[in-house]
Amino acid sequence: MANSPSGETLTERIVRVLETFDTDRTVQTPAEIGRRARLPSSTAHRMVTDLVECGLLERDEDQRVRLGMRLWELALRGSRALRLRQAALPFMERVQARIREHTQLAVVENGETLFVERLSHPKGGANIARVAGRLPLHASSSGLVLLANGPEDLRERVLAGPLEAVSPETVTDPARLRRHLARIRREGVVVAPGSVEGVSTGVAVPVRERPGQVVAALSVVLPRDAPYGPAIEELRAAAAGITAALGAQRP
Ligand code: PHB
Repeated sequence: MANSPSGETLTERIVRVLETFDTDRTVQTPAEIGRRARLPSSTAHRMVTDLVECGLLERDEDQRVRLGMRLWELALRGSRALRLRQAALPFMERVQARIREHTQLAVVENGETLFVERLSHPKGGANIARVAGRLPLHASSSGLVLLANGPEDLRERVLAGPLEAVSPETVTDPARLRRHLARIRREGVVVAPGSVEGVSTGVAVPVRERPGQVVAALSVVLPRDAPYGPAIEELRAAAAGITAALGAQRP
């Protein structure tokens, strides 16, 4: 791939441009993209024009730019997230209908929790997790389940810190977090009051593809003081259903 004078490949520059978009910043001008991607203005404008022509970016009437549907289409094809989501959705719908609170599915991506699906109830409580949004692994209930059941080297890397406090109640003491994770692994569930926001309690269980292989976390976000017993029961039944559906998908 051709290198720029800075030694960076074109692919790296394209990725930098695409990464200037996030769940809160979905629309930008080419100048803003250039500034955030640390690219000369003329380069940024040319790259945006090319990417719009390919459909990876889209331009609105005000000449502002967003990620293109074509990018979404390509990203979803055959992706791990799509396969998981398809297997999980019917079970997530059942949890959501019975518990009537946010129900979400998350995976580990590059050392963080990435939410791949979320069903929300119109009367559901607060929830900062978004589809395609991220949270640190040690903060949300989903992340804790993924961390507890994930590879040991990932756990050690996270425990080595720094451990950011997403809320005042996020467990950031490594020794305490280590004990917490051991317990989550043993019990197969976590109830995490206040670890993301003081007003809510996350409840999460592991989703396995095969025995021992945790591929996702399924969670609900409840108002802080809501009873969590029924949610645990529903989540466990749903996780078992997803495991069976993933098995049935395998050729
Ligand atoms: C959680 O999974 O623990 C969680 C996620 C988002 C929130 C609150 C809790 O807003």
